[in-house]
Amino acid sequence: MTTRLRLGVNIDHVATVRNARGGDNPDPVRAALIAAESGADGITAHLREDRRHITDGDIDRLVGSLAIPLNLEMAATAEMLEIALRHRPHAACIVPERREERTTEGGLNAAGQHDHLAPIVARLADAGIRVSLFIEPDPRQIEAAVRLRVPVVELHTGAYAHLEGELRAAELRRLADAAALAAKNGIEAHAGHGLTFDNVVPVAAIPQLAELNIGHFLIGEAIFIGLGPSVARMRALMDESRG
Ligand code: PXP
Repeated sequence: MTTRLRLGVNIDHVATVRNARGGDNPDPVRAALIAAESGADGITAHLREDRRHITDGDIDRLVGSLAIPLNLEMAATAEMLEIALRHRPHAACIVPERREERTTEGGLNAAGQHDHLAPIVARLADAGIRVSLFIEPDPRQIEAAVRLRVPVVELHTGAYAHLEGELRAAELRRLADAAALAAKNGIEAHAGHGLTFDNVVPVAAIPQLAELNIGHFLIGEAIFIGLGPSVARMRALMDESRG
């Protein structure tokens, strides 16, 4: 029996559009509430160091408004740790962050940063926050996650999304193998980045995955079909992939 796959909707790019003009519109919290009504199981937001999209005020309002779990994406910094501990979201996903990147361009090097990450993971876990690491589908990174004793890893699907043909098929196998290795070690596997209506089904069919986090495509598609239908269609594709 395969389990239902959860959908986390990332609302960062509603804030990107708002911030292009300043002011309050469009409001990412309103988008989060519509996503929740339309089939999202959780909301994901990345408070970046430069606050280029989501702001501290958005996190305050999300925490105050959401009836579904909030997954805070955060860099492994003292500032973000303090913010996470203050808000105590359901989950925190630790992501690599470089100021000059356009989006999160690769997984966290958990294998090379054990000593930096261990105290941050421990403080978050002690506060009852479910910690996840955003990593490449690489056995070395899963082994590092096991050593860090995180309950969740999120596998980076960016390479899968951008490759084609045989290379994409090989990357899909890496994702499936990484999800299986995580599950074998008692770690819940999530995945995300670059997923669309056209490429989501093979990823959603990986039986060990428990959650997908999807943002940019859904928010872009909302321009054409509306946010509710965009989320609902993704939800339906994910459900169909599980039979
Ligand atoms: N998961 C993580 C950890 C991310 O950093 C992002 C992008 O912010 C996503 C999922 C969603 O990626 P996309 O916006 O390409 O769907």
